[in-house]
Amino acid sequence: MVAMAENAVALVKEILGVPSGYSVLFLQGGASLQFYMSALNFLSVNGKGGYIDTGVWSSKAIKEAKRLGTIEVLASSKDQNYNYIPKNVAAPSDLDFLHYTTNNTIYGTEFFHTPKTDAVLIADMSSDIFSRPINVADYGLIYAGAQKNLGPAGATLVIVKDELLGKTGRDIPSMLDYQIHADKESMFNTPPVYSIYVSMLTLEWLKKNGGIDWMNKRNQAKADLLYGEIDRNTLFKGTAETEDRSRMNVTFVLTDEANTDKFNEMLAAANISGLKGHRSVGGFRASMYNALPLESVQVLVDVMKELEKTQG
Ligand SMILES: Cc1ncc(COP(=O)(O)O)c(C=O)c1O
Repeated sequence: MVAMAENAVALVKEILGVPSGYSVLFLQGGASLQFYMSALNFLSVNGKGGYIDTGVWSSKAIKEAKRLGTIEVLASSKDQNYNYIPKNVAAPSDLDFLHYTTNNTIYGTEFFHTPKTDAVLIADMSSDIFSRPINVADYGLIYAGAQKNLGPAGATLVIVKDELLGKTGRDIPSMLDYQIHADKESMFNTPPVYSIYVSMLTLEWLKKNGGIDWMNKRNQAKADLLYGEIDRNTLFKGTAETEDRSRMNVTFVLTDEANTDKFNEMLAAANISGLKGHRSVGGFRASMYNALPLESVQVLVDVMKELEKTQG
């Protein structure tokens, strides 16, 4: 079990190019526990944390961090139901950290730039980690629930810069202390073995096929195919700002709602399920995580073209 977990950690380091001085951990509690745990380990007793609010998951992170001290929301896209990514966010110089969500699973928006700050950068990468190259050295902390691009639910991947730990002046409970998990190499308590094992197999698959560069190209091809059809076919309209469109979660609506039942029937006939948009956005959401092949996207695009042919 230890050798297997070590292999999983080594694969994460190799595939993402994690520099020395970082610990790679597999913890429990989901990304949702990280909302609180990240602030607990990085917000000093009288310090201040900065957040970019790009949706439900960012808001939840802000809510949990507020339990611990002063939090400033530096920018928010709530004014347009989170359909865009705020740019050129000014970060005050007195922040302990800046937290942002790289991909907004519900709204279909994604950061294609790294926010500028002198503070420690913290990112929730739950829904786009391993989908594209990242520069780990930009970050003090990266966290991601396993269940999208990595493996089964149960493990949460944490990548943390060791030298930043232990500086808050807080008495941190052991299970919530990155330092303790890092010192014990994720074996402080029984780790989520099955989830780590399947994550390890996924990482082996990713490496064997060409790693992040391969996956990046594959995800771009999927996004080009589906957004291309959404833009070409007048029956559909994307809901996110074009430049901020997520490659993982594609949100779109029908331009004429009268087609809803027909489109749903055609999707079912093509064996496509799970396309209903989140209730806060409506419409449709096609999630195209790493495991989804281009061929599956083509099936959806074919149905969209078929719907077009039924119009009088
Ligand atoms: C970006 C993001 N952050 C956090 C979460 C919450 O993750 P978990 O269910 O592992 O707590 C999700 C779940 O979908 C997510 O997409």
